[in-house]
This record gives sequence, structure tokens and C-alpha cells, in this order.
Amino acid sequence: MKKNKISKNWINRQKRDIYIRKSNIEGYRSRAVYKLEEINNKFTIFRDGLKVIDLGAAPGSWSQYISKNINNCKLLAIDIKNIETINNTYFLKGDFLDEIFQEKIKKYFNKKVDVVLSDMAANTTGNKNLDSIATGELCIEAMNFSINILNNNGQFVSKLFMGSIFNEIVSLAKKNFKETHIFKPTSSRKESKECFLICKKLF
Ligand SMILES: C[S@@+](CC[C@H](N)C(=O)[O-])C[C@H]1O[C@@H](n2cnc3c(N)ncnc32)[C@H](O)[C@@H]1O
Repeated sequence: MKKNKISKNWINRQKRDIYIRKSNIEGYRSRAVYKLEEINNKFTIFRDGLKVIDLGAAPGSWSQYISKNINNCKLLAIDIKNIETINNTYFLKGDFLDEIFQEKIKKYFNKKVDVVLSDMAANTTGNKNLDSIATGELCIEAMNFSINILNNNGQFVSKLFMGSIFNEIVSLAKKNFKETHIFKPTSSRKESKECFLICKKLF
């Protein structure tokens, strides 16, 4: 397909997408917010007073959702990219895969946290299998980090893609958490292999 045809299709799809329209009206920076809302409605992740880490937070709609809906939350947002300021949210810019950066995150809380969210996604290459592996590796790194920083009743929520690394990730989750669920929100595009892993309570 020619380049200008692809971008026309992209523009048309953006116009038709009800979640993009809704996010513009409600003042959210991305349609991704509705995935988190659906996850929270189904699995009750949030309550007031929680300590939360939002990995891969840019442009910031998940952090916006938490900041608007959860009272007295201590929220730390992380991304390689900059994000515009969000109320009641502390932002740290850096590469989550960097061990020194992970130490910085731990230092910020200096104690266990209640929720680790990861919507991190690797840059796409066009090869769906390679893309799912790269994002799967981010998910595994986020899970290993969570196991160290979550309190016993903590929750871990992460994006992942169906693909060759999927079963490995799910069995790792089952080894470490008492409850694990896989969920595809209605707001996640049907044609995408994206789904979410929801884990509760460490063994
Ligand atoms: C799908 S977007 C997240 C959208 C976000 N949840 C929202 O609601 O606005 C994925 C993000 O993951 C970030 N990311 C990917 N790899 C990362 C890494 N190693 N460290 C930190 N952030 C990373 C990207 O920069 C990108 O902003």
C-alpha cells in the first residue's frame, strides 16, 4: 500500500474510533485510559491511599485516570519519553531496563508498594512475532521488579501480546502470584494481539 493511502486510512480510523473521540471530550491524553478503566471495573485494582507505579506512562492517560479517581494515592510515573505534568503525580524519566534506574524507583518509595502497572511497549518493527517478544521481555522485567517491590497483597497489571513468549509469561506469573487473569478489554483494538495480565497476591 502507498504511504499516503496508509496515512489516509490511519486518519479515517482515528476519526471513527469512539475511544479517541471520548478521550478528547473527557480530557485524557490517550484512548489507552479506557483499557485501564475496564481492567479496574472488572478486577477492582484501585482504592484510596494506594502506592502505585505506572511503567511506560507516556503520554499519561493511565496516570491521569489514577490522579482523578483515587484519593491520597502516591503515584510514580516512569517513561523514557517526557510527559507533561499531571496533578499529584511524580514523574521519573529513564529506561526501566536500566538497573540503576530501577534502584532510583525503589529509593523513591523506600518501602513496599501496592500496585505496579506496566503499559510499556517496545517500538514496533513490523514483524509481529519479534514485537510480541520485545514487549513480552518488558513484561517479564516488570514482573520480576514487582515481585521485589510489591507487598504481599500487591497487584501487578501488564500489557502483553499473544505470541511465542505468551505461555512462558503466564507460567511465570502463576509461579509468583496466587491469582492470575488474562483479559482483553473491549477498548483494545480487535486486530491487535494485545491483552493484559492481571496478577494479585504474591506467594
Ligand atoms: C502504549 S504507551 C503507554 C501509554 C500510557 N499507558 C498512557 O495511558 O498514556 C507505551 C510507553 O512505554 C514506554 N516504554 C517502552 N519501553 C520503555 C522502557 N524500557 N522504559 C520506560 N518506558 C518505556 C514508551 O516510551 C511508551 O511511552
